[in-house]
Amino acid sequence: MSIAVVTGAGGALGRAIARRLAADGHAVAVVDIDTDAAEATRKDVAADGGAVRAWTLDLRDAAAVDEMFQVIAIQSGGTGILVNNAAIYPTTPFLEVSPAEYDDVHAVNQRGYWLCAQAAGRQMAQAGGGAIVNVTSIVTHGGWDGLASYAASKGAAVSLTRALARELGPCGIRVNAVSPGAFPTAAEEIHEDPAAYNRYVLDHQSLKRRGTPGELAAVVSFLTGPDSSFVTGQTIEVNGGWVMA
Ligand SMILES: NC(=O)c1ccc[n+]([C@@H]2O[C@H](COP(=O)([O-])OP(=O)(O)OC[C@H]3O[C@@H](n4cnc5c(N)ncnc54)[C@H](O)[C@@H]3O)[C@@H](O)[C@H]2O)c1
Repeated sequence: MSIAVVTGAGGALGRAIARRLAADGHAVAVVDIDTDAAEATRKDVAADGGAVRAWTLDLRDAAAVDEMFQVIAIQSGGTGILVNNAAIYPTTPFLEVSPAEYDDVHAVNQRGYWLCAQAAGRQMAQAGGGAIVNVTSIVTHGGWDGLASYAASKGAAVSLTRALARELGPCGIRVNAVSPGAFPTAAEEIHEDPAAYNRYVLDHQSLKRRGTPGELAAVVSFLTGPDSSFVTGQTIEVNGGWVMA
């Protein structure tokens, strides 16, 4: 049996994705830099009856990423699904962003996606196929004040999705992206006035309610499952009709 690896699985969206993939019948590796958060997700998935293992991993550490995927290959027959979901999103006005902050954002949100896709992709190519989903963001369409590094990293993830879909398709590997709109998770703490932000979101969405993490996870389930077998290189917007791309 191959494994579904979900990075950033300690956060609300990653946790919902891990639970959904386990419900779909996959054994899941829940990966996060935050040990307690990963363990909480592991417990949730296990309580649902899923097969799950938690990993503490810093995606900025290339050697540690490689080692984790090697252990998965030895212990569990390799990675069949990868969901690149972990991200950081420091908010700093563009004119004040330091090179160190820029590098850190890209080390997690871009290089981290790259490293995991490469390690998982090698296993998938050997097995004759697999599915990779990169979690991007609505900010790729129009930016957001204070999030230029993040927006650039997420735009790179869209481009990486297409490049890998092109190059790995002949190996039977499908690569797609989901682009969340505004989901009510810890990420919203970057907004100073939660009530005002909630009104702002509902004003812009076509659907006049907030999305749930499970609704994003359902799209990841589709993109990693048999019903999307002829879909690759696409980015699916999951934003309640805010941006229509
Ligand atoms: N919540 C939203 O509205 C929203 C909107 C657009 C895009 N997204 C994207 O969805 C994904 C999940 O978002 P979320 O709201 O659950 O965020 P979150 O911050 O709750 O979760 C992200 C997780 O990534 C982990 N992480 C951070 N750095 C890491 C590292 N170096 N190594 C390993 N793990 C690391 C964090 O510990 C955290 O558990 C992210 O890619 C985010 O950019 C979210």
